[in-house]
Amino acid sequence: MKKFTSGIVAFLLFSAVAIAQQGTSVYATMDATDAVSIKELFPNEITIFESKHTQAAVLISEELIHKIHDNVKTHGPGYIFRASEEKAIQALDRTANRNPLVDFTITETTFVNECLDLVDGTNIENDILDLQSYGTRYHNKPQAEQAVLDQQAKWDAMILASGRTDVHTRIYEHVNTPMPSVILTIDGANTPNEFVIIGGHIDSTASPSNNDSSGADDNASGIASLNEMVRVLLEKDFVPNRTIEVMAFAAEEIGLVGSAEIAEEYANNGINVAAYVQFDMTGYQGSNSDIYLTTDWYNSSTLNNYLAALMDNYNASGAHSFTYNYTECGYGCSDHASWADNGFAAAFPFEADFGEHNPNIHTSADTYSFFNTPEHSVKFAKLGLEFLIEAAKPQILSVDDFSENAIRVFVKDKTLNYRLNNTVSNVKEISVYNVAGQKIFSEVMNNEEGSVQLQQFAQGFYIAHFTLENGHAFTTKFILN
Ligand code: BES
Ligand code: ZN
Repeated sequence: MKKFTSGIVAFLLFSAVAIAQQGTSVYATMDATDAVSIKELFPNEITIFESKHTQAAVLISEELIHKIHDNVKTHGPGYIFRASEEKAIQALDRTANRNPLVDFTITETTFVNECLDLVDGTNIENDILDLQSYGTRYHNKPQAEQAVLDQQAKWDAMILASGRTDVHTRIYEHVNTPMPSVILTIDGANTPNEFVIIGGHIDSTASPSNNDSSGADDNASGIASLNEMVRVLLEKDFVPNRTIEVMAFAAEEIGLVGSAEIAEEYANNGINVAAYVQFDMTGYQGSNSDIYLTTDWYNSSTLNNYLAALMDNYNASGAHSFTYNYTECGYGCSDHASWADNGFAAAFPFEADFGEHNPNIHTSADTYSFFNTPEHSVKFAKLGLEFLIEAAKPQILSVDDFSENAIRVFVKDKTLNYRLNNTVSNVKEISVYNVAGQKIFSEVMNNEEGSVQLQQFAQGFYIAHFTLENGHAFTTKFILN
C-alpha cells in the first residue's frame, strides 16, 4: 500500500458519515491500489472498470470527489478526469517515454546570471494580490474566465512594450470546462518544432464554498512566478533556439481538465515537447529546504536530475543561492501528470516537503497574508529562468544570415564600422560574440550608420550581430587585429 493510503483511509473513515449517492459521476483514472481501498470503504461511490500497469479506470461519485478535495492534509488520492469510460480505459494503455527529447546541457552561465539579477519579488507580490482579488477562480464561475482574459492582457501588454513580433498569446477553449486556458509562445528561432514548456493552473477551489476561493498559494503564486520569468526574458530580449511556451491552465482543481486536453492535443499532433515543468504552489516555505523536486513514478528522473544540476550550478552559492530536496506527492497531484500521461518528460518542483505545504489551500484562508512575502516564489522564478534558457538555448546565429546588400561592415584599429545600404530602418542593437558563442559585448544604437569601439578585446576572430528596428537581423564574422 502506498505511503499516503493509510492517511487517506483514516481520513475517510474519520469523516465516514454515510454518503448519499447523488449528483453526477465522473470517469477518471487513478492509482489502482487507491481505487481498491476506496471501493472497500465506499462501495457505492466508485465503479472500477479495469486495472492495468498500477492504474485503474473508474467512475467516481461527485460526493467522493468532494471528500478527496476536503482532505486538506494529504490531498488525495488523486484522479485524472476522463471524458468517457472508453477514454479512461484507453488511458491505461499509454506507454510513456518520459525522457526528455533532447540532451540538456548547461552552457549559458553569463546570460542566465544576468537574468537572475533582474528577478523582482515586488512584481510577484502584485500578481498574487491581483489574482486573489477575484475572490474565486473556480472553473465554472465567471471570475475564472475573467482572470484568464486579464492574464492574457497582462502578457499582451508586456509583449507590446517589448516590441517583439515573435512572441504571441492565444486563448485555448476547452470541451470539459467553460473556463479557457491561456498560452504564451516565444517562437524558436532555429528549431521551432521543439517545445520547452512551463505552466501552472490559474483556477482555484475552496471548501466549504467555491465562491470564497482566493487561491493565493494554490496557485496564484505559481502563475506569479511564471509572469516574472516572462517579464525578465522579454526585458533581456531573449530569443530562444527552441520554442518556449508558458501556460496558465483552466480547471486543474476538478481533475487536471485543462492541461489534459492540451497535452493530449499536443501528443495527437505529434508535437515534440522536449520537457514540461509545472509550478503549482510556490509561495509558502513550510520545510527546511527551499525547493522540493517531486519524484513520483510518472515524473522524469532525467528531467529532475537536470533541474538539480541547474540548481547546483546557479544556486548553490552566491547572490541567488537556495537549497533543494526531494519529496513525493503520491498521486497525479497537478498538471505535470497530464504531460507525463501523454508520454512527455515532466517535473514538478514544489514549495515544501509533501504534508508540510501550506495548510490553508482549498480554503478561504489561502490568502497572501498567510505567507506575506514573495521571497519563496522568487526562487521558483529563478529556477524557471534557468530551465527555460538552458533547455531552449539562445538563438544560434548563423553567419549565413548576413547580406552584403543590406549592410556594409569594415573593421579598422579595433573599431567596427557599419552602414545600412537602404534606409528603411535603423540599427537597434549590436552584439559581439566570441568563437565559443558567448555574447561578450552589446550596445544599443539608433542609427543607419555608426561604429563601436572594441579595443578591450584581444586579437582574434569574432561574430557581430545587428538587430534592426524593423525586426530583421544580420550576422557577420570579423577579425580584430
Ligand atoms: N496544488 C494542488 C496539489 C498539491 C497539494 C500538491 C498539496 C502537493 C500538496 C493542486 O491544485 C490540487 O489540489 N490537486 C488535486 C488533484 C487533482 C487531480 C484534483 C488534489 O491534490 O486534490
Ligand atoms: Zn489545489
